[in-house]
Amino acid sequence: MRRKLVAGNWKMNGSLAANTQLLTEIKSELGRAGASCDVAVCVPAPYLAQCQSLLFNTPVALGAQDVSTHEAGAYTGEVSTGMLSEFACRYVIVGHSERRAYFAESDELVAQKTARALIAGLTPIVCVGETLAQREAGQTDAVVGAQLNAVLSSIAASDLAKIVVAYEPVWAIGTGKTATPEMAQEVHAMLRKQLRAKNAVAAEEVRILYGGSMKPENAKELLAMSDIDGGLIGGAALKAVDFLAIIRAA
Ligand code: 13P
Repeated sequence: MRRKLVAGNWKMNGSLAANTQLLTEIKSELGRAGASCDVAVCVPAPYLAQCQSLLFNTPVALGAQDVSTHEAGAYTGEVSTGMLSEFACRYVIVGHSERRAYFAESDELVAQKTARALIAGLTPIVCVGETLAQREAGQTDAVVGAQLNAVLSSIAASDLAKIVVAYEPVWAIGTGKTATPEMAQEVHAMLRKQLRAKNAVAAEEVRILYGGSMKPENAKELLAMSDIDGGLIGGAALKAVDFLAIIRAA
């Protein structure tokens, strides 16, 4: 049985004051009621130190939103895996569709970031997803399959259980449009099949998250599907009541 994971992706949001308020509310509720799933927040890099200290000794794990493919050196603006580890990051998102679309990240670059995260002992949350045009052209399986395939080609079969996959249809991100549970399940099942071809045993352990307008109102139905093992939450992760409601739904 896979333990569900609910991870917040704050994107480029937050402030010292807002982070303190949000995490204080989340911590106090989880301290009281506990959580029956794993919980993480992926925060902007400048807030890692603040969030590390706010989350010390809590059930909420820390994550980052991106990482360099390089170990160290003259790469202005980049953040290394070693730096993330120093701030006790457990997770790092790689290949988010916003990075693919706005920063021209290729499948190969995402694969390199995944491999780099694994070397450092971080858990990469590998994002895949199709655009609306691609879905309407019947290319969902081909696009998402190629995105995952690039990553699978760059890692050892023995490392497969160490990754998390997130299926985030681009057309559902920040739009209020959600994939129906059946639509999401169909893609998740396809992804699981692809994982099995790499390592059949480990594929059953890999958590495949759904992301794209997941909210308290639709979380329960989505999370009830057999291959949906959690959520990667954007907007709703910025409101403690909504994020907590999704955690409870899991
Ligand atoms: P929303 O939940 O705001 O649609 O964002 C999803 C997402 O991109 C998480 O990575």
